[in-house]
Amino acid sequence: MPVRSSTPHSVRELQLADWIQTLDQSSLREIHAALLRPGVLSLALGMPDPRLFPSAALCRAAVAVLEDDRNALQYELPFEPLKRHVVALMKYRGVCCSEDQVFLTAGAQQGIELLVRLLLDAPRPVLLESVVYDGIQLAVSPFGSRRLVVPTDPETGIDVGAVERLLGTGVRPALMYVIPDGHNPLGARIPMEARAKLMELASRYGVPVIEDDAYGFLQYENALPSIRSLSPEWGFYVGSFSKILAPGLRVGWLVVPARLVPKLSILKQLSDIDVSCFTQRLVARYLDSTDFLEHIAFLRREYAARRNSMIGALREHLPNVARWRRPHAGFFVWAELPHGTDARKFLQFAAATEAVAFVPGDGFSVCGDVYARRCIRLNFSSNPPEHIRAGVIRLGRALRKWVLVRENRTESAPDSIQAPPV
Ligand SMILES: Cc1ncc(COP(=O)(O)O)c(C=O)c1O
Repeated sequence: MPVRSSTPHSVRELQLADWIQTLDQSSLREIHAALLRPGVLSLALGMPDPRLFPSAALCRAAVAVLEDDRNALQYELPFEPLKRHVVALMKYRGVCCSEDQVFLTAGAQQGIELLVRLLLDAPRPVLLESVVYDGIQLAVSPFGSRRLVVPTDPETGIDVGAVERLLGTGVRPALMYVIPDGHNPLGARIPMEARAKLMELASRYGVPVIEDDAYGFLQYENALPSIRSLSPEWGFYVGSFSKILAPGLRVGWLVVPARLVPKLSILKQLSDIDVSCFTQRLVARYLDSTDFLEHIAFLRREYAARRNSMIGALREHLPNVARWRRPHAGFFVWAELPHGTDARKFLQFAAATEAVAFVPGDGFSVCGDVYARRCIRLNFSSNPPEHIRAGVIRLGRALRKWVLVRENRTESAPDSIQAPPV
């Protein structure tokens, strides 16, 4: 019998879970609005450049897989040959592991989410640095766990001394999360001594460290090894083909103690049954037929040139108004704007007056601190060097105008964005 209701409910009354209602995506909306303006040059989104994907080789691999392997489009077990490739790759991050410690995922973000679900219970807190990749913040959100926040540094990353003091007080977080190389958004890298200290603390206090190494293969000079190489018991490694091959494939991996793999399999089954059988085979076939290290070396050269272009342009066009550091790895430069700048408002201003976009820093702030509000994240991977340079020139012009407008604004002026006369 059909269910009747005298007063039909509107879908607006639909009761969503509490945690999802607390999520605020307003900075994303602002960025998309800025990007939609005609002619905007984007230094915002953190994408690899599709012109650098090895599309022809991937195409050949895809055809070969579909022709040769009936099971390529079937439900299947994780593909062992791909695990063997991952084991071989991990040596270049200083990690010696075996196939039974490799767990294939649909990218790093899923790897992080699975580890969080494996380790976290609502009453137990998580330890995070104060400015960090929003994907970990999303992953812990459903649990409503307390966040223990330690300071971070745009050069050296998480403050390991603060971690030691915190753990010394007796609190036991369910996990810590770090990005040792190519930090998103800071571009920081954790120095070698701090890595060793962090992993010593992890094993002394029994706190697992999720190491997000999404950019670890893209270190542009003096590469440091993964922290998993310092502590196979407490370092849970998250890897991905997104930045070194193509993100649309959605293939990544974890390296964890082998005894955790069956539990991770259950969690993954719950979420999406398994990694796409086809893309696992495609990536393995591509790796069989190519010199992948040569491809990674090519990407490093390309992205290092783009980083240099951004840093050179910042030196030329934003001296004295902003501070930044030269990242050793990854896709991002973090820039600190003058005190009192609201980076979200500045984004609207810069998009409207100079047609340039970036990501305001507060979206990465774990506890909404004032510091991140005046900072911005600049991406250098998506565009060739001349575009990056043009984008930074626009940014410099926008910032100088912005500072002028601020200086000239009278107390009675409304707090809205106004393009100054050019
Ligand atoms: C630090 C960090 N971790 C993880 C990811 C997610 O990567 P994937 O595409 O492998 O899920 C990103 C993507 O931008 C990232 O910046």
